Order: sequence, then C-alpha cells, then structure tokens
Amino acid sequence: MINSDNRPIGIFDSGVGGLTVAKSVLRNLPEEDIIYFGDTARVPYGNKSRGTVVRFATEIMDFLCKKNVKMVVVACNTASSLSLNYLKKNYNVPVVGVISPGVKEALRISDSKRIGVIGTKSTVGSGAYEKNLLKLDAKCIVFSKACPLFVPLVENKHLNDKITVEIAKNYLKGFEKNKIDTLILGCTHYPLLKNVLAKVMKGVKLVDSPSAVVKEMKSVMIGNELVSRRKRVQGNLKCYVSDDPEGFRNIAGIFLKKTIKVSKVVL
Ligand code: DGL
Repeated sequence: MINSDNRPIGIFDSGVGGLTVAKSVLRNLPEEDIIYFGDTARVPYGNKSRGTVVRFATEIMDFLCKKNVKMVVVACNTASSLSLNYLKKNYNVPVVGVISPGVKEALRISDSKRIGVIGTKSTVGSGAYEKNLLKLDAKCIVFSKACPLFVPLVENKHLNDKITVEIAKNYLKGFEKNKIDTLILGCTHYPLLKNVLAKVMKGVKLVDSPSAVVKEMKSVMIGNELVSRRKRVQGNLKCYVSDDPEGFRNIAGIFLKKTIKVSKVVL
C-alpha cells in the first residue's frame, strides 16, 4: 500500500506576504493542509541583519515543528536569503526556500541569460539570488535592485495606482540599459504588482516564486515520502501571527480573496 502522510505543511513569512505562496499551494496541492505563521510583531524583515533574521526564523521553526509539520516552506525571500542554510543544517524536517525555485525557473525561461532580480534591501544585499544563479550557470549575468517601497505600496493597496507605476519606473529604469530578458520578483509581495511590473518592463519575462516553489515542494515531498493521498478540492489553512490578528485578516483579503482563521501566539 502507498503511504499517505496527512500531517500539515508549515509555511512562514515575516507577515502576510507569504500568503501568495500559501495560495499557490492551496490551488495546486489541494490534498495538503497548511499551518501558516506570519511574524507580524517583527515585520518587516527586509532591512534586518542576518543574525536577527536567523534568530526569528529559528523561533518560528521551533513553533511549527511543535505543530508536527512534515515540511517547512520559508516563503519569505529575505528569510530564505539569510537563514535557509542554517535551518537546513539544524532541523530534521525538510526545509524549502523560495530562492532556488525562482532561480531554476529564471534560467529555464531566459534566452539571453541576462537576468534581473528585485527584492528587499536585505535580500539584494545578501547576494543570495546572484550566488544561486551563478552556481547553476556561471555565464549568466545578474543585475539586482532593492525596491523597498514596493512592500508598503502593496500593504496599503496601491496595486495599480499611478504612484506605483512612477515608483516602479524609477526603480527599474536601469534594467533597460542592462538589456535583461527575465526579471525575478524576489519578494513575497511583488506578484501582486505583476500588472504594473509587466507594463513597466514590456517584453521582459517575469518570474514569481509562488508558482516555482510548488514544483520544488512536490519533488521534495515525493523524495521524502511525505505526499498526502487524500482526495478533495481544497486543503485547510490555519494561520498564526505574533501580533494584530485583525490587521492580518484584513490584508489577507488582498492576498487570498477569502476570509481566514487567524490566532495570535507568543513565541
Ligand atoms: N516577506 C518579505 C520578503 O519576501 C517582504 C516583507 C518584509 O520586508 O518583511 O522579502
């Protein structure tokens, strides 16, 4: 008989943004349940140091492991950039980040191998995307740009506004000279700006981690015999936050377009 592992998958982020990944999992892996943790008391991670982010990520991993998760997805690009190697070495559950799936997808679809990366200050500063891209293809040329205003624009619902287009033009103008053909959206919030980014970056292919990460999760689950064989149309999503469950529930509406259960916990 084939094994069915019905334990939930843990997903965590600095806040609400990782729900873009949770949404992709709910849509593409309906047999799986999710326990999501959003560190709303300490968001944003995007301008914090490696030591601090590793400490936060460790506390969240401990919480998720106590909830008996079978695997953890670090949905936050900043946390993936700064803490993934540490978490992989120090925990027994498989840990999947968002950098490597985005990198593989970008290299798959780019013809010129001139690739742009956008993310938070800490993600770009860590050089994680660049290192991963060059490890898989030493000949690719990588151009990175931190876009710190994108996260507050999304969280304040300026998804398609003129101001967002202007800021995007300002951040992304250098990429035209760089002649990139592919741009990695290296932050949880950026998939929500896809309309604006596609307008500003005409002709450039956009890579978002939520679609790429599900592929990686599937292969890790198959490799570790962690797949659930349940048959159903939608999995359960239970959310925990470290502060302001009401605020989380409100913004979650932009990300998920549905109401969710949220509980506050102290780590
Ligand atoms: N989740 C973060 C990321 O993907 C963005 C928000 C933050 O700065 O914490 O990098």
